Amino acid sequence: MADKAYLEFDGERHEFPVIRGSEDEVGINIKTLRSVTGGAITLDPGFKNTGACESGITFLDGEKGILRYRGYSIEELAEKADFLEVAYLLIFGNLPTKEELKKFGIDIASHSMVDEDVKKILDAFPKAAHPMGVLSSLTSALTAFNPSSVDVSSEEAMYNAIVRILGKMPVLVSWTMRKKMGLPLDYGDTSLGYVENLMTKMFRKPNEEYVINPVILNALDKLLILHADHEQNCSTSTVRIVGSSHAGLFASLSAGISALWGPLHGGANQAVIEMLEAIKEDGGDTKKYMAKAKDKNDPFRLMGFGHRVYKNFDPRARIIKEAADEVLHDLGIEDPILDIAKGLEQEALSDEYFVKRKLYPNVDFYSGIIYRAMGIPIDMFTVMFTLGRLPGWIAQWKEMRLRKEPIGRPRQIYTGENFRPFVALKDRT
Ligand code: ACO
Repeated sequence: MADKAYLEFDGERHEFPVIRGSEDEVGINIKTLRSVTGGAITLDPGFKNTGACESGITFLDGEKGILRYRGYSIEELAEKADFLEVAYLLIFGNLPTKEELKKFGIDIASHSMVDEDVKKILDAFPKAAHPMGVLSSLTSALTAFNPSSVDVSSEEAMYNAIVRILGKMPVLVSWTMRKKMGLPLDYGDTSLGYVENLMTKMFRKPNEEYVINPVILNALDKLLILHADHEQNCSTSTVRIVGSSHAGLFASLSAGISALWGPLHGGANQAVIEMLEAIKEDGGDTKKYMAKAKDKNDPFRLMGFGHRVYKNFDPRARIIKEAADEVLHDLGIEDPILDIAKGLEQEALSDEYFVKRKLYPNVDFYSGIIYRAMGIPIDMFTVMFTLGRLPGWIAQWKEMRLRKEPIGRPRQIYTGENFRPFVALKDRT
């Protein structure tokens, strides 16, 4: 394949190098475009054709439905690894040895205290506040409680910042949920594994023993692994771009949380359950909602369907669908919205509109069903996604800083008014 690309512009021919990734992904390097053309830029709303960086963390092939972290397939990782191992893999590049994993777990546990004054901030939020807004604020507030900026030239400083946030974020997540539910705040038990401790922090009641259900633990571990990274999506790009101004790690993560909140991104898991509930309340007529989704005059979209990159199937959705079945079976729950979800999926997979546009269930179509069965309130679903995505955001931020990437600053084509002289208020009609 060609190693150069050519552009004819204004009577001149310009040459640009073609770069190739390790999986033969092809990109045209247009770094010199403005200088050789006298200022022309590319225009690509939503960055559908634009690579923002080179990255060695996650590979995905949307046509073939492949997702790999650091070369390992998501199927193998979900089956054979636990979330902490995957976090280490993403952040440091290789699967940890037994000793490395043990040290990582101990270091995270030793940083899992959150300043008591953070509780005052939490108290100031109304109970009805959306947990994603609360979590984003608390994450940003952590900067004030841990003010030293990360010296990115020091491996030790980076490591300390990373284990701090991995230790404190589950505390913030559980506090956000417990405050909402009127439960006393809990620090969990650091003698437990990372995900077991998370479950304990979230669900333990002060007046009864908390026993971890292994089926739920396994499903939660899988959910967190499947959400752990997804290359340059909206929230990850946000973390990289905020971090590119050399804002601190916690501030960059706080921005990522806000980006993830939106219903077109991480907020879809909440939106899916709300949609399935609404269909159930409306008599369970899936055909009616399929028709609404296809009607261009109706803003309704089938939530949990479609993906910017996956145009064949989302490999994470398959694993999650199985885990949802396992959890509901184990808990003996018959959830009518699972039947509605399966019905919608069946109809969409054979519907011309969805087939033509390559719209398949995404990772969030079934995740909410599991979270609901675990007793997690619906507006906490995206918060759970946040916890899963945390290692990916950290890995991407670290890579961006270590590669000394320039500050992110897209350009624009201005389409506003040309110069016009100022008109004083008294003369305006
Ligand atoms: N329901 C109905 N139609 C849809 C849907 C949907 N869920 N998704 C896309 N389409 C249609 C669009 O209307 C468009 O049709 P057209 O070509 O006739 O105009 C076509 O499919 C392409 O859609 P785009 O919005 O251009 O695709 P894009 O790649 O920009 O968007 C997105 C991807 C945002 C995920 C979209 O599919 C969507 O809104 N899905 C529902 C929300 C959702 O589940 N988000 C979670 C994504 S996974 C994650 O972030 C973790």
